[in-house]
Amino acid sequence: LNVFLRRGGLARDIVEAVLAHPGSWGSSEIGKGKTVCLDYSSINIAKRFHIGHLSTTMIGNSLKRIYDFNGYTTVGINHLGDWGTQFGKMIVAYKRWGGGKPIEESNVRELVKLYVRFHEEAEKEEAANADKHCALNDEARAWFRKIEQGDAEAVSLWQRMKELTLKEVGAVYDLLGVQFDSYAGESFYEDKMPAVIEELRESGVAKLDRGALIVDLSAYDMPPCIILKSDGSTIYATRDIAAAIYRKETYDFVKSLYVVAYQQNLHFKQLFKIIELMGHDWYKGMEHVSFGMVSYEGRALSTREGYVVYLEDLLNKAVEKAREIIEEKSPNLPNKDEVARQVGVGAVVYFDLHNDRNKDIDFRWERALNFDGETGPYVQYTHARCCSVLRKAEAFAAAEPDYSVITDDEAQDVLMLISHFPQVVRKAMEQSEPSMITRHTTQLAQAYNKYYFEHRIMDESDPAGTAARVNLTRAVRDVIKTGLYLIGVEAPERM
Ligand code: ARG
Repeated sequence: LNVFLRRGGLARDIVEAVLAHPGSWGSSEIGKGKTVCLDYSSINIAKRFHIGHLSTTMIGNSLKRIYDFNGYTTVGINHLGDWGTQFGKMIVAYKRWGGGKPIEESNVRELVKLYVRFHEEAEKEEAANADKHCALNDEARAWFRKIEQGDAEAVSLWQRMKELTLKEVGAVYDLLGVQFDSYAGESFYEDKMPAVIEELRESGVAKLDRGALIVDLSAYDMPPCIILKSDGSTIYATRDIAAAIYRKETYDFVKSLYVVAYQQNLHFKQLFKIIELMGHDWYKGMEHVSFGMVSYEGRALSTREGYVVYLEDLLNKAVEKAREIIEEKSPNLPNKDEVARQVGVGAVVYFDLHNDRNKDIDFRWERALNFDGETGPYVQYTHARCCSVLRKAEAFAAAEPDYSVITDDEAQDVLMLISHFPQVVRKAMEQSEPSMITRHTTQLAQAYNKYYFEHRIMDESDPAGTAARVNLTRAVRDVIKTGLYLIGVEAPERM
């Protein structure tokens, strides 16, 4: 069956449909009454936020917006890494070498230094003792036990380290426009552990093996998962089992996503299998949204080799560079600082969400901030261009739009991209792949620019045609803005 569409009619239908509900083209109500949990960012306390954390934070943020846009209730969870013997080590190091400075006057950089020092000193001590005994490690274990037992001093120190980290990281989240509904981290599940362990034991899913409690997963070609170590302590995986159950009981999710690097593939496969073996068929709603690694200017990051790029530094540098470009290209722009922030941060976020998430990313300045390539600034600039057309159009007398004049191929491409946008949003959600929206929005920007250069939008002699072309521009602006919003990028009106 061949179908022929009258181009002008198509333009009218698509443009008017977009303009009927500004900001909601591509949205839906399919998630009404359903809840989705999203675990993303999930930083470790007393560690610094580096660019390796960008993807989990921004993919999670984007997916949350996409689900919200489709009517779901979403719960953004920052599953803090705030439990484990490393906090005993931190306390020992702080007490010995912290120079008596209150934690709140310190910063995470200093905490990390203290932690590194602990390891150096512990290594020295081990090397000096014939039996490899290390009193420093004993002391650290004792301090962690004190945290577990609720000792006032230990808990206060741990709590303050947590607050300090969250305060610093909060500044980065603000810059990125990222929010969470819950900061329930690993420590939160400590008192929920016994019931879970009991359930695992009673159901026979877990059994004792040389003093440790484990789940044998050999039937599924996976190594065993330790639930309780022989000294009775729990591990990361145990806390994730408790967290999964807690989330189901608390939020009754239809889906529970974990936006975590592919290095943890096995961990999540084990986790989902254990939930299944426990007889919870809601394991089907659990999904590991994995992603690749980030390198910087062609080199893999390595804490050990001292090659780390902190997210805050990267973002500040991006804003600074954007500011320089603005100063050079539009020195008269009002609120330059605000726009520099939107463009600098947008460039970084866009770069992160441009390729399929499982591909490794090599961050390059000249590619992220280029105004001509497939970049955040390019798409933002197209949005600002639309806004500028609309501002100029205000000088024209209002007329009833005549869409029958929109028959050219360039407009046709623009209209097709707009009309496919809702499907792209849906697909991005189903495949947990925000980059689909990034690329589609970029194509729309490219198509509009082509249209803009080849056609005159405002024509004094044709008010009705002008009104139609201005409305087309308005629809493009609306969809680009939505596309950028869904990937977590702001859309300035002037650049
Ligand atoms: N804090 C962990 C890490 O940095 C990520 C936690 C991810 N979420 C989870 N529920 N396991 O590796």
